[in-house]
Amino acid sequence: MHPKNNDILRNYVITTENAIDNIFSSSIAPKTSVSEAMKYSLDAGGKRIRPSLVMEFCRVISGDYKKSINAAVAIEMIHTFSLIHDDLPCMDDDDFRRGKPSCHKKFGEAIALLAGDALENLAFRVIISSDYDDKTKSCLISEISDATAKMIDGQVRDLSFLERTDISEDDLLEMYSLKTCALIECSAVMGCICGGADKNELMLAREYAHNLGLAFQIRDDILDVIGDEKELGKPIGSDADNNKTTIVSVLGIEKASELAKKYSDNALNKLDSFKNNDFLKDLTKLLLERYK
Ligand code: IPE
Ligand code: IPE
Ligand code: MG
Ligand code: MG
Ligand code: MG
Repeated sequence: MHPKNNDILRNYVITTENAIDNIFSSSIAPKTSVSEAMKYSLDAGGKRIRPSLVMEFCRVISGDYKKSINAAVAIEMIHTFSLIHDDLPCMDDDDFRRGKPSCHKKFGEAIALLAGDALENLAFRVIISSDYDDKTKSCLISEISDATAKMIDGQVRDLSFLERTDISEDDLLEMYSLKTCALIECSAVMGCICGGADKNELMLAREYAHNLGLAFQIRDDILDVIGDEKELGKPIGSDADNNKTTIVSVLGIEKASELAKKYSDNALNKLDSFKNNDFLKDLTKLLLERYK
């Protein structure tokens, strides 16, 4: 990544983390013991790709990313909730996340379950208590609730594919569109909404993020095989341990990598419709080649 773009990404990460801190010292965060587990998982790190997409799309459309900080934090909360639940023994049963013991390893299953629930709820409270106008709030809430419903639907399908040998490439891509692309699309679209984008820009941003999301999940499946646990901050071999059918188990590493490249290139093409697309192009390329 170009050093200038790396600085932009770092600023988005810091902005996200400062905004999370502010929310937890405000009256909208829960004051019960579940708060510690929520903050633990949020603070554990993570690439903050989704909030960065929110802020960058807002900047591309309007020139000012700061209008989108609340939406950015909200999607990171939904994402973190999805990860806490994804790691539970009843799902992927993974003990590490973001380089630390998973939420349920640290706080127990019941609190991890509730921390996920509370993060989902807090995401909506962040939007509701923000100073966006009512129309913007209702658009953002509608986007987040649609995307969360899709993510959950994708997780249900993911589990239903366990130990099945009749899953096709198309079945997998449809499942990835739900479990992974939905939140990534929501991020790009919310950034556009906060920036005041028109319908055509919203559609193009969604198409970009859909392709990025497919490349992102395919790369995630590849890293589950070839990645380094320390660098990745989560266990490798989890999919194989769970007998999961993934794009890698169906196509092999080489073909899966080609497919990730195809979707990443599609995403890059969609960006040509936007001015000031330099950061997004760099980010898209970085995510295709990532090792964490
Ligand atoms: C992990 O997402 C879950 C997937 C959709 C593959 P990320 O790779 O963005 O996880 P963090 O936020 O950086 O921990
Ligand atoms: C997760 O997919 C997608 C979510 C909605 C959380 P994975 O189960 O492959 O994500 P990791 O590898 O645990 O991060
Ligand atoms: Mg999973
Ligand atoms: Mg998992
Ligand atoms: Mg994975």
